[in-house]
Amino acid sequence: MLRYENTLSADEYAELRSAVGWEPIATEQARAGLLNSDFVVVCREEGRAVGCARIFWDKGYIAYLADVMVRPEYGHRGIGRELVARCIAFIDGCLREGWRIKIVIVAAKGKENFYRHFGFEPRPSETGGAGMQLWRG
Ligand SMILES: CC(C)(COP(=O)(O)OP(=O)(O)OC[C@H]1O[C@@H](n2cnc3c(N)ncnc32)[C@H](O)[C@@H]1OP(=O)(O)O)[C@@H](O)C(=O)NCCC(=O)NCCS
Repeated sequence: MLRYENTLSADEYAELRSAVGWEPIATEQARAGLLNSDFVVVCREEGRAVGCARIFWDKGYIAYLADVMVRPEYGHRGIGRELVARCIAFIDGCLREGWRIKIVIVAAKGKENFYRHFGFEPRPSETGGAGMQLWRG
């Protein structure tokens, strides 16, 4: 049975990264990222982490959804959608009267449609340029 919880260790996080084929990151960066996320959600089957997502919010109008990962053998079962839905619900719970919060995601290549279901608008668009990024180090 699948269960959704809110704690993920740095080791489990590293294992998920490796399962989806992402580059490893330094353990202390993984730990800090998890610790400083405003919301972490993990899907477990019999205790084993099979997917996760996290979100951090500046307490103003910007939130960033990151590290949406589901082990390939658990794909296409709705786990990814549930993880993202829970992150969005967390942000909805932070809204106050008159507020708007923009949730930003940098979609992996080919995953745009997965996010469209929630109403994310791809960029570039008619009014917005492409999302951009700069790695340091
Ligand atoms: C992207 C990712 C998180 C999706 O996770 P997932 O658990 O497979 O996602 P879901 O099952 O909720 O949805 C995936 C697709 O399966 C479909 N699906 C959902 N439940 C289903 C079911 N019961 N039966 C058949 N298909 C189903 C969905 O419609 C969706 O289709 P779409 O991509 O065309 O929208 C996963 O593929 C992954 O971890 N990829 C590698 C890491 C990555 O790229 N992450 C995204 C970073 S931006």
